[in-house]
Amino acid sequence: MASSAQLKALLHAHVSGDIERFRSVALQVAAHEAKIGHVKLAEELRDLVKKAKSQQQVVSISKGQRDSSGLLNISSPSTKLSDLILDEESRSQLDRIIKEVSHINELRSHGLNARRKILLVGPPGTGKTYTAAALSGELGYPLFEVRLDSVITKFMGETSLKLRQIFDSIESVRGVYFFDEFDALGADRASGNDVGEARRVLNSLLTMIEQDNSASLIICATNYSELLDRALFRRFDDVINYHLPSAQNIENLLARRLKPYAPARLNWKARAAKAEGLSAADVKVIADDVVKEVLLSKATKFKTEWLDRAIKERQQVTRSQRKSR
Ligand SMILES: Nc1ncnc2c1ncn2[C@@H]1O[C@H](COP(=O)(O)OP(=O)(O)OP(=O)(O)O)[C@@H](O)[C@H]1O
Ligand SMILES: [Mg+2]
Repeated sequence: MASSAQLKALLHAHVSGDIERFRSVALQVAAHEAKIGHVKLAEELRDLVKKAKSQQQVVSISKGQRDSSGLLNISSPSTKLSDLILDEESRSQLDRIIKEVSHINELRSHGLNARRKILLVGPPGTGKTYTAAALSGELGYPLFEVRLDSVITKFMGETSLKLRQIFDSIESVRGVYFFDEFDALGADRASGNDVGEARRVLNSLLTMIEQDNSASLIICATNYSELLDRALFRRFDDVINYHLPSAQNIENLLARRLKPYAPARLNWKARAAKAEGLSAADVKVIADDVVKEVLLSKATKFKTEWLDRAIKERQQVTRSQRKSR
């Protein structure tokens, strides 16, 4: 039994919010119990202190309160998968992920793993980031975006330590964890221009992914499929490929946003054909431009030439962007 002095010290530490002191007194109590032969109780007490410590670390990471914790951005998006326009294969892959993750315990009880380590590959503006938000929205899990700029430092040891911290959070706080442009970890800047070392940092992330046994969803995204080797793909339960939208999907994207403002008998197909080669994000910009023009000119419908102009402008912007790359 804890002495009255220890009890008082515990209460005092609790009231003053001194967690370190609380922990240290609790460990003293455990040590005292061990000494008088209450080994099991001592063990239980130590376990409780350990558990409280790891949870507290996670909370401080989660809330981004401390500098050491600026590793994750947290949000609770209400985005839904139905907002995404994708090809059928990607859509059914995403549906399957949601189904499996929602039944993770049932699957585990039969010795099966839910698909929850996912790689998204595809060009800019095709919906990868949006997908991470939609999976979080659909599952009702918080979205933790890993801030790679904070993770990556010149020192490989430090970077690996920060990754370890993130994986502790993945383990103890169930959520959707999103590593956007995760291949940046393998780039030169990750470790003072030493390519070999950068590669090791990326490999240490991949090993952590492989060893993870949590109930969280881990999503990595990249634009560069050609840089990724087979060994890398193997670490994921599923790889989803994103593409520029087909003419039909461009038409769907345009119509969904513009239908209420469209003039009668608009040839949607012809407009969609003009926008081919653009990303879904570009098509969104086009539709937004047209809606803005409708609102600001106090019109109820747009003119066909407004839409054509917006498409042409966007095509020019992307062409000059591609050239400058
Ligand atoms: N497939 C899609 N269906 C509907 N809207 C989309 C789709 N893809 C992109 N968008 C729209 O474009 C915006 C930007 O897309 P997003 O940020 O998801 O692209 P990304 O693939 O992550 O690009 P990057 O590789 O540049 O990070 C989204 O917020 C959404 O409004
Ligand atoms: Mg993105």
